[in-house]
Amino acid sequence: MRIDILTLFPEMFEGPFNESILRRAQEKGFVEIVLHDIRDYSQDKHKKVDDYAFGGGAGMVMQIEPIALLLDKLKGERDYEEIIYMTPDGSRFSQAIANQFSLLGNIIILCGHYKGVDQRVRDHYVTREISIGDFVLTGGELAAAVVVDAVVRLIPGVISDETSALTDSFQDNLLAPPVYTRPAEFRGWRVPDVLLSGHQAKIDQWREEQAWKRTKNLRPDLLDEE
Ligand code: ADE
Repeated sequence: MRIDILTLFPEMFEGPFNESILRRAQEKGFVEIVLHDIRDYSQDKHKKVDDYAFGGGAGMVMQIEPIALLLDKLKGERDYEEIIYMTPDGSRFSQAIANQFSLLGNIIILCGHYKGVDQRVRDHYVTREISIGDFVLTGGELAAAVVVDAVVRLIPGVISDETSALTDSFQDNLLAPPVYTRPAEFRGWRVPDVLLSGHQAKIDQWREEQAWKRTKNLRPDLLDEE
């Protein structure tokens, strides 16, 4: 999979993409993440990329020209299945959308800043608008990093224990059951006996019951979804 990220702040991705599973996924060739600085495509002698909103109002708007030039260049180089714009007024990101994206070959993620991008970018280039929640971040970069993280770990082979991603919370509309590791007892707090029993069928049944209980108590809304 190839992910092209269009941003005014490429350095913001250096931390999250250069550690742990995301780093290994890139080193092993499961994903190629390419950062593009929108400012490099400004035709203005001061490298300006934003301007006041027509009609007035507080806040700057990202101009269409640098974004269009960059998107035209990328689209001329390969086919992209989705051009995703990170915005608080997009559709709510979910595990289901992460699953869909993880099956794609080439995607572009556009990060907005200030008051967002000129509407014409959204009308003529963007194919999906995604929000990571009902709150407003200073820009789309952290939201894009969240989406990339959730998507890349689902690419087959990225997580070494292949069943692990399939037993995540949300994968089947249920929260994950509790997990424990050694020691079996700490300050008198014991791991549930069934997990030490070696009886796999009983363990599976216990986990399923716990997942249901947790979901019913903490996120009953998930049980209403189809
Ligand atoms: N940009 C600013 N806030 C955002 C959010 N909540 N989700 C996605 N992109 C954003």
